[in-house]
Amino acid sequence: MDFKFNVNKLFVKKINKVTHTLVPADFSGNLQELSDVQMKISKILDDMGEASAIAQCLKKSVTSASRLQGTDHIVYLLVDSIGNGGLGTIVGFLKTGSKNLFLFDEVGSCFQLRPRCVLDFYIHESKQRMGLGRILYQHMLEDECTTPEKLAIDRPSNKFLQFLQKHYGVHDIIGQNNKFVVFKGFFDDVYQPSNVIQSMQLDGFISAGTSRNNSNVTHERPLLRDYPKFHSPAARRSYGRHAAAKPIIHDGPALRQNNKCTGSDK
Ligand code: COA
Repeated sequence: MDFKFNVNKLFVKKINKVTHTLVPADFSGNLQELSDVQMKISKILDDMGEASAIAQCLKKSVTSASRLQGTDHIVYLLVDSIGNGGLGTIVGFLKTGSKNLFLFDEVGSCFQLRPRCVLDFYIHESKQRMGLGRILYQHMLEDECTTPEKLAIDRPSNKFLQFLQKHYGVHDIIGQNNKFVVFKGFFDDVYQPSNVIQSMQLDGFISAGTSRNNSNVTHERPLLRDYPKFHSPAARRSYGRHAAAKPIIHDGPALRQNNKCTGSDK
């Protein structure tokens, strides 16, 4: 996407990280230059966010300068420095961030977690299927020291699912009852107390520290004991995005303390 200003003056690298400060990591300049840079980066985020929303048939943008405020979200911007007659163009972006989510594992146990998520991903239509999405995604994985199956994805498009299958062989979706998608492998290291905000077996409470009578699950589960306000009518027996039984979640005290489950932006 072309802009009226010189993109190369804002970003010197091919992939550039932008956070809620709306300032490139390597920025140096005075106050006036700072506000000029922030204005231009806001324009880039707003326009790219809008293009991504249109590409995904979303009613409103998931990515904009204002939506970065007060978050830990990171936008990785991919720049083509020779585009737009040498002014540089923005070819695409990828946005990650942490979200409080209720997520089900393969056997129907529900966890309240705060995983890193892929929140938005877009490559300009004129540049898709040229390997640029992979360059951006790979950069993010290395930057955030993670792997594709450890990320929750906010309502991925079919293109994105095919992208993940093609480049990373990730395809086994664990069904959720929200708009997020997680893959097999996501929960492998979740069964550590430090990673779990809350955990609850769907078909009844079990004591903290006991493991389930299930050959697939050998880890000891960190469980929330005495938390009677998180119920499900039945254990989940089938899988797929719309197959999960919806847990009835009352706003118990543990949920009110800083643990608001934020859910999908889409
Ligand atoms: N139809 C089906 N699969 C597609 C596709 C399309 N139109 N475009 C990309 N893919 C998948 C395919 O697996 C493709 O491999 P193939 O060409 O051999 O079939 C692979 O992605 C190409 O990888 P790469 O070139 O690295 O990806 P990209 O630069 O095209 O970027 C997206 C991938 C998803 C970011 C890009 O297609 C896009 O911006 N789509 C529109 C917005 C969107 O859906 N974003 C996901 C948000 S959840």
